[in-house]
Amino acid sequence: MQIAVVADVHLHDLHGGYGMVEEGSGGLVLRTLADTMASTRVFNESHSAFLAVLDDIVRRGIRDVVLLGDYSDDGQLGAVAAVKRILSDYENTHGLRFFTTFGNHDSYGPASRHLAKRLTKADGLQPRLVTSDDRAPAPAVVCSGMRGMSTAEAMEAMALYGVTRPPNVFHWETPGDDDRASLDASYLVEPQQGLWLLMLDANVFQKVGDAWRVRADAAWDHVLAERPYLLAWMEDVADRAKRLGKTLLAFSHYPALPLALKGEGSEIQSACTPEWSKRMPSLETGRRIARAGIGWHFSGHMHVAGRIELDGLVNIAVPSPVAYPGGYVVVNVQADGVDVEAVRLENVAGFDAAFPAYEVQSGDDNGAPLGKVLACATYSDFLRVHLQNLIETKHVLDDWSPELLASLDTPIGQVLGEGSSAADLNVLWPHVTSLPFGRMVEDYYLIRAAGRQVLGQLSPERVAFYRDLDLRFRSSLLLEGARFGDHSGFLALFTACTNAVLD
Ligand SMILES: [Fe+2]
Repeated sequence: MQIAVVADVHLHDLHGGYGMVEEGSGGLVLRTLADTMASTRVFNESHSAFLAVLDDIVRRGIRDVVLLGDYSDDGQLGAVAAVKRILSDYENTHGLRFFTTFGNHDSYGPASRHLAKRLTKADGLQPRLVTSDDRAPAPAVVCSGMRGMSTAEAMEAMALYGVTRPPNVFHWETPGDDDRASLDASYLVEPQQGLWLLMLDANVFQKVGDAWRVRADAAWDHVLAERPYLLAWMEDVADRAKRLGKTLLAFSHYPALPLALKGEGSEIQSACTPEWSKRMPSLETGRRIARAGIGWHFSGHMHVAGRIELDGLVNIAVPSPVAYPGGYVVVNVQADGVDVEAVRLENVAGFDAAFPAYEVQSGDDNGAPLGKVLACATYSDFLRVHLQNLIETKHVLDDWSPELLASLDTPIGQVLGEGSSAADLNVLWPHVTSLPFGRMVEDYYLIRAAGRQVLGQLSPERVAFYRDLDLRFRSSLLLEGARFGDHSGFLALFTACTNAVLD
């Protein structure tokens, strides 16, 4: 049995018109390069990337596809309608079936929300603010399709994609019998005999003033605290799956475990940068999900690829098609177990449709490296340049101390040699240790994003050097006592990140 899992498509509807060009005229409406380079995802390329993913799924003969939340740009009426047109097309033409769950960009809780984006026509000039709020002053363009959906609207929109009982499945149920009054879009479905997909809606909303806010940071902590019935249902489902001999795969938008761990046994702790740590669930939350009997959980949200395991619970971080490394996963369920294959998008036809617009936009906004962007020959090159820019302009500044930032141009050997037992690294690895320390910091983020997939992109000597570091420091550099932001803190996180990849 096979399924495909696609996370965080974030479809921007290039052909949506938005009151800027006539719908159906073929004229593109684009996000700007500056907004793209400041975001954790690319926008204008989402349409061609999604089609490339679906075509690859069709080519492999896979029928059932899980959409792991954040399927549209930001849950706008227009973007969701565009997603549905694509799903319907692949259903009708290729017989695909889709099962959706919600992310933090799909629904806004009990009330819908006005949204606004800066958009240009295909010429890339004169960005205009397009908003659903008709009180916005000129020169904003008012477009009702820009409104973000309430949860009830999202559930209705996705009714045909698992949220209500689909035809031709062996089993389907929801956690409650209250006819979804609770606005929980979770369901269990058996699309292929013996395969149970547990689709968990892990959005928790909190009222702040007059508005509703989704608790996307450490989301599973909030689910367990505020919707305990969901864990009880998961336990019940897991118990029945075991008794009935079903293979149970669980899916939700948010990680069920911190995506990097360090230490063993009772010493295990989360090993993420402070920015990441606040977005991760606690270890206790992961342990409770494991105790409920969930063995496989697939998450999106962080736009990275990876695998982490604790107490028998494996959390697969499913990459997004619109962030480095760019891809999705295929799950093979066989008699002897579950196998997860990460599929990478290398080439995407038409990914550069917005490049003529980028060309006329200032390369200076947000430090957008226009020359590097335009030189990208493949989609995967483009995603790497996008992340490298984000690392330089955002991640490094958010995550590390001035002390560490001051040493980015210092040779790696000199930085690691200070106050450690690593003096011989310079002798063993002269080419790598003479590189600036900033290269190693960049590699930390590339490895964190792509996991094993990054290995083929680093020189064999650099991989061997990181393996050596991992072996030397795996146990000696525990996080306890290491200050976030200093060099030993960096090494502790770096080896936690490389540990799983280089094993
Ligand atoms: Fe996302």
